[in-house]
Amino acid sequence: MVTSLKLWGGRFKKEIDPEFARFNASFRVDQRLLREDIEGSLAYAEALAAAKVLTPAEAERIRAGLLRIRERSLKDPAFLESNAEDVHSFVEERLFQSIGRAAFKLHTGRSRNEQVSLDMRLFCRRAILTAQEALINLAEVLIELARKHESVVIPGYTHLQKAQPILFPHYLLAYYEMFKRDFDRLTDCARRVNVSPLGCGAIAGTSYPIDRRRMAHGLGFSHVALNSLDAVSDRDFVAELIFAASLTMVHLSRLAEDLIIYSTSEFAYIILSDAVSTGSSLMPQKKNPDSLELIRGKCPRVLGHLLAILTLLKGLPTSYNKDMQEDKEALFNTVDTVQDTLTIMTIVLRHIDLNLERIAESLKGGYLLATDLADYLVKKGLEFRKAHEVVGQVVLYAVEKNKRLEDLTHDELRSVSNLLGADVLQVLTIEASLAARHLVGGTSRKRVKAMLKRAEKEIAGFKRLAIKKS
Ligand code: ARG
Repeated sequence: MVTSLKLWGGRFKKEIDPEFARFNASFRVDQRLLREDIEGSLAYAEALAAAKVLTPAEAERIRAGLLRIRERSLKDPAFLESNAEDVHSFVEERLFQSIGRAAFKLHTGRSRNEQVSLDMRLFCRRAILTAQEALINLAEVLIELARKHESVVIPGYTHLQKAQPILFPHYLLAYYEMFKRDFDRLTDCARRVNVSPLGCGAIAGTSYPIDRRRMAHGLGFSHVALNSLDAVSDRDFVAELIFAASLTMVHLSRLAEDLIIYSTSEFAYIILSDAVSTGSSLMPQKKNPDSLELIRGKCPRVLGHLLAILTLLKGLPTSYNKDMQEDKEALFNTVDTVQDTLTIMTIVLRHIDLNLERIAESLKGGYLLATDLADYLVKKGLEFRKAHEVVGQVVLYAVEKNKRLEDLTHDELRSVSNLLGADVLQVLTIEASLAARHLVGGTSRKRVKAMLKRAEKEIAGFKRLAIKKS
């Protein structure tokens, strides 16, 4: 193991306490930013050369040295064994070992404060693109599933009590809308990630004539940070990304919860694939929805990270403070968790089957058409509140007689209200109930068909966008 090169120490008389050195070091965690750190250093070296702080020969040696570090680190895990304090010290140490004292010039006018902010931004930018790709894949599978069962009607629930009939694709499209908002939130977050802090120094800006804009554009940033204090202490983008991921996790968790319920033998609307289920070590009959339970169970850790980053920032004095080093585990774990969870949900949905008999059976109970009956009475001229009361009485009568709404005879209906004419039985069908809800946002067959088409078009558009960006 190489003893590490220190980036500071001139004003210190005593050696660092070894326990504190361990506590202070972040390389174990932030080595994940190696690629980004090298990317930033390559751009900075080029800018220093353009500003004539480095000679062309020095800049070239630095460039070649950095590229060698990148290559070695990919090939040789032992190369990453180091006592370096953090990823920035590691790169400088290895650069020194590779090219000698010219390595010391790379840090001219530069601070780790801007470096770490840059690395995090580059990391977030990539993480956003990968998360968006995973969201597109999930959306695609949702829509494929909707297409496969385009005509299936299920009971819709509020309070987990049967409410009104809805198309199964309408249910899936609800999640499509949520995931689309998640996608948009990430695009929006990327705008604020995409600001370069390079050239801001430790806090006050730089005194070397480097071209900040050129350096930023070279790294693919659309803007440069306009205030050096803000640039080194801004972690809003980390909090925003974790928030966006939190909402995605909440959506995934709710979907998982639905599917767990629908897969119980009490509901039995869906059949989970064996490929994403597990058995019990004791009870031979069991097939447990572990994939979905873990999707639901992974959500709280991301919500925890959100609370951690917000609490981390809330009491910090302006500009850089070492507390900020703690943002990385939260971010990395968030990014990994959301990615993993999106992938698993996509696999679960790809293999889901419906139990059509059970679904058809369950449409028969639960008075799903009671609202349609009230609407019928409104058409006959009754005020809605009154109609609601009359239908309530009809339902009560049916409950007491242990009958379904559609099984009541005309005489029985008329005994509650003589507005309930012979044509009422035509209204009391699932198809009529669906067809009546044809406004935008409703569950009529025509409307849902149009929404599916629209979703397919949108997904194709997102895909084109993703290809362009990569
Ligand atoms: N490892 C540090 C972090 O992650 C890098 C910045 C350190 N800057 C400093 N002045 N100590 O935040």
